[in-house]
Amino acid sequence: MGPAAAQCRLLAGGSQENELRRRGAHALTLIVMSLQCSNDSEEDMFGDPDSFCGNSSLLAQVDDIEQKYLQDENKDIKAAGEIVLGNLQSGIHQKNDNFSTKENMVVFEADKEEGFQMNENDPVDNNQELTVSILDDLPSSQLLYFEEMNELSSDSRLSSISEIRNKFVSSSSVKIRSPSSFCPDAEHRNRPTDFSSDSKCDLFKAESLKDHLKSAMTVNAKAQTLQVSKTKQLKEAVLSEEICVARKTIESPSADIGPFYGLPSKVKDLFRQFRGIETLYEWQHDCLMLDSLQQRRNLIYSLPTSGGKTLVAEIIILQELLCRHKNALMILPYVAIVQEKVRGLSSFGVELDFLVEEYAGSKGRFPPLKRRKKKSLYIATIEKGHALVNSLIETERIDDLGLVVVDELHMLGEGSRGATLEITLAKLLYTSKNTQIIGMSATLNNVGDLQKFLQAEYYTSNFRPVELKEYIKIRDTIYAVDSKTENGFTFSRLLNFKYSSNLEKADPDHIIALVTEVIPEYSCLIFCPTKKNCENVASMVCKYLKKEFRLHREKEKQDLIQNLKNIGNGSICPVLKQTIPFGIAYHHSGLTNDERKSIEEAYSTGVLCLLACTATLAAGVNLPARRVILRAPYVANDFLKKSQYKQMIGRAGRAGIDSAGESILIVQEKDKHLVQNLVTSPLENCYSNLLMELTKGMQSLLLSLVGLKIAVTHEEVSSFMCSTLLGVQQQLLSNEKSLSEITEDGLANLVEKGLLKERTSAKDHDPKRTLTITLLGKATYKGAIDLAYCNLLYRELKKGLEGLVLESNLHLLYLATPYDMTLNCTPDWMIYLRQLNQLSAAEQKIMDIVGVPESFITKKASGQAIRKNVDSAVVNRLYLSFVLYALLKETNIWSVSEKFNMSRGYVQNLLNSAASFASCVLHFCEELEEFWVYKALLTELTKQLTYCVKTELIPLMEVAGVLEARAKQLYNAGYKTLAHLANANPETLVGTIKHLSRCQARQMVSSAKMLLSEKAEALQEEVEELLKVPTDIPGAYVILIHSCLCSAIAQGALGTGLTAQWVLLRA
Ligand SMILES: Nc1ncnc2c1ncn2[C@@H]1O[C@H](COP(=O)(O)OP(=O)(O)OP(=O)(O)O)[C@@H](O)[C@H]1O
Ligand SMILES: [Mg+2]
Repeated sequence: MGPAAAQCRLLAGGSQENELRRRGAHALTLIVMSLQCSNDSEEDMFGDPDSFCGNSSLLAQVDDIEQKYLQDENKDIKAAGEIVLGNLQSGIHQKNDNFSTKENMVVFEADKEEGFQMNENDPVDNNQELTVSILDDLPSSQLLYFEEMNELSSDSRLSSISEIRNKFVSSSSVKIRSPSSFCPDAEHRNRPTDFSSDSKCDLFKAESLKDHLKSAMTVNAKAQTLQVSKTKQLKEAVLSEEICVARKTIESPSADIGPFYGLPSKVKDLFRQFRGIETLYEWQHDCLMLDSLQQRRNLIYSLPTSGGKTLVAEIIILQELLCRHKNALMILPYVAIVQEKVRGLSSFGVELDFLVEEYAGSKGRFPPLKRRKKKSLYIATIEKGHALVNSLIETERIDDLGLVVVDELHMLGEGSRGATLEITLAKLLYTSKNTQIIGMSATLNNVGDLQKFLQAEYYTSNFRPVELKEYIKIRDTIYAVDSKTENGFTFSRLLNFKYSSNLEKADPDHIIALVTEVIPEYSCLIFCPTKKNCENVASMVCKYLKKEFRLHREKEKQDLIQNLKNIGNGSICPVLKQTIPFGIAYHHSGLTNDERKSIEEAYSTGVLCLLACTATLAAGVNLPARRVILRAPYVANDFLKKSQYKQMIGRAGRAGIDSAGESILIVQEKDKHLVQNLVTSPLENCYSNLLMELTKGMQSLLLSLVGLKIAVTHEEVSSFMCSTLLGVQQQLLSNEKSLSEITEDGLANLVEKGLLKERTSAKDHDPKRTLTITLLGKATYKGAIDLAYCNLLYRELKKGLEGLVLESNLHLLYLATPYDMTLNCTPDWMIYLRQLNQLSAAEQKIMDIVGVPESFITKKASGQAIRKNVDSAVVNRLYLSFVLYALLKETNIWSVSEKFNMSRGYVQNLLNSAASFASCVLHFCEELEEFWVYKALLTELTKQLTYCVKTELIPLMEVAGVLEARAKQLYNAGYKTLAHLANANPETLVGTIKHLSRCQARQMVSSAKMLLSEKAEALQEEVEELLKVPTDIPGAYVILIHSCLCSAIAQGALGTGLTAQWVLLRA
């Protein structure tokens, strides 16, 4: 509570208790005042529940009165309700009381214009008339309050109010919550989710009167001005009311649920409107009703693919944002999925008044902006999620994060990303006891380990809304997968096809026969082991398809080709040009982001009916199919893992899209036994990767533990390590050394590298070894630099200080080229030489500075033997920086990929990685004063690399998922700024922008609105911060009260009576 609010409390605190009792309405008014004043502080309107509980607050005093009535006069809560209501009523009826009628009007109509306020001296002719007029404009919280009071009381005094209220409620188009509208789903299943009159009574009894006053007043404080239409005002009042009721319900674990799982019923409408979801599946309902969730314990839940896991997570997130009023973080595995989710949830944010913030690629602010009013949902990749959690721990704001949801929890077992996820979760568990963690996955096996690690409960079900039939094909026979039989499958049918001998040779696996059973009416995905294989399969299939396939949605396919040509500045991939007219395309990482998006959109809308894709699509984006074909049980050269298999086949038969789904795995005779094993075996276990990924795992964790001061002694570090997944699985993963030995080795290594320092202090003959982080160590963990490269990066940046070539951005680009990309780079020496020859004299100096002799490249290009020892990593890095240099100059991926003879997908990937790495180097430099000069340079470079487009398109591309091609379309159609897009009409957009569906248009406008409101809010917050009167100015006490009350008067927040009192007091 801010100083002004505290002061209001002080004013009220001087009153005597019995006077307060007499003037219930007065107390109410003052509390409203204090709430309104508290807007100036950092608290939110609903605030942290604890913020209302200060002992000296008026609420505490009201509470005291309530208690006094309960104890002294030996009355029950019901009676107490009557008394306070009586006070309220007498406030309405006793016109001569200082804080009576008018003051209640202040409560009810805090923001109304003067004309609507009653004059203190006006006589009230008719009590009933007055009550009607009050009820007419009454926020629904008050109606609810009266309703509950009324039900509690048998006193006939209340019946007239009740009648009038009923009249009002029934004549109003706005529905005040009725018992049956609370949770229709639950009612349908006959579950105890309604407020029956009994349970309502019990609930009320269980809650204190103070809570009711709190909620009523909180809503009152939010009352709208009269400029807003009454219907809108009432609608908003109902929404706030429902949020308020929901919040109360959630706070009390024993209480029954609110309209829609503790959320306003509007949320249910939004799910219907935006997702077409009418009712929840039974498991979703059961899961949401779990005790563990009601009591905010951590939870892991696991269901088959397409089981509808996301919806449950989203409802829990909304509860956190709207009811508990805390921020939430959702961690998703890939940038594309983050962007998809940001687009999907922005519409909810716009409607329900919370912020959706994207943390992917180089987007995201660390620490996040502290919002005063709205709560934020951060949607992040694993890496950005980690950086976000670090920044919150560092700024001691981790408790603001009420919930973390991890989708695809099995990613814990996947390489360095798994290690990063484990580190993030372990830190959360260790530093914040109040942050709830929810993990979900379709492919978990050793859940026990994960439960132990996350201290979580577990929920599982086999539910899948659309049945998925699994088959395998060996030669021309289709077998149904049946894990109950001995060999795992049973005969199903013979494949019906007539192949010429030519076709038999071209398509020995009968892919054409399999796909033509479903396309073009239904969609089909073919997972292939390699990128090249995807292109070959797509080409092969369309070569042998009948010409009629061309006729299906012909015009839209021509449009798609044209669109791809525009994206490629006139060029189009010859394979796509050949396959798209048949409704077929390939999909793998060799496509540019823009191409990939266009192809995905065309597939989603049925223009394309067949995609030949790599495994990345299985977890990458939500592209469902009627039939999924697995070309072979391999990913590259590795035999398929069970979890990969499950993820791939899980794309078939998605709820709401398909009514059936089937998968067919093509098996060669030689692999038959391996495949039997695959279909019958359980899913793989998920193991900690902290040890496997040493520099990105264990060492990185130890460094940041000390850096963030989470653990600074050897004992603390050891204790932390026990709480990791590695700690849970240590006996399985390391039988040579114990966890504490591994930890000690790790710390010693960091000290040796100059990243940590150790100090021994001897107190009472008990030596304690304390660890501190060095500046380099801090820069490393802040920049999320792989420990394998931190010393090298430091040296190179230092060298740059001696003579950074600033004639162009080539030298800087070299410093921002990611080290790990150099490993798989094989330069074309002729191209390298050509690039060298185009360098200016100044730029050629860069070669000397970084250590690439020109003679080395010349000799390589002419095929001569080289004796000189040159660091190939440096040579490769410089080559890649030439690629980036060309990209920034030309902003055209196609021409650059041609120039360097690289696939356009690789060039795109290099660009994205460089943008991310540049922002990491920037954070690294920010921690080291000697590198001050790089800050401005790298800020600009990161921006250039992130967008790599003409400057005018950047504002549009800030919107999640708007890529260059779409930004160009929008710009050319006149949508030139973020504000243009945020205020666009989705229907008009659909009419003007090609290949834009209604749903995409709506999501794009919502995302733009969200971004705009986020930016505007950030600026407003900055202004408020600037104008905030410091609390420690000498003599500030009086000034503060004055300024706050003056502003309250100016806003009409105080009634004239109170204003008069204040003027008097001031005098
Ligand atoms: N109650 C429901 N009624 C109708 N459709 C639903 C319901 N719940 C979810 N869906 C739809 O089911 C589809 C699959 O849901 P979702 O993406 O949440 O699955 P999932 O369990 O996360 O699967 P995966 O493991 O493959 O990610 C989505 O299109 C979603 O809109
Ligand atoms: Mg999912």
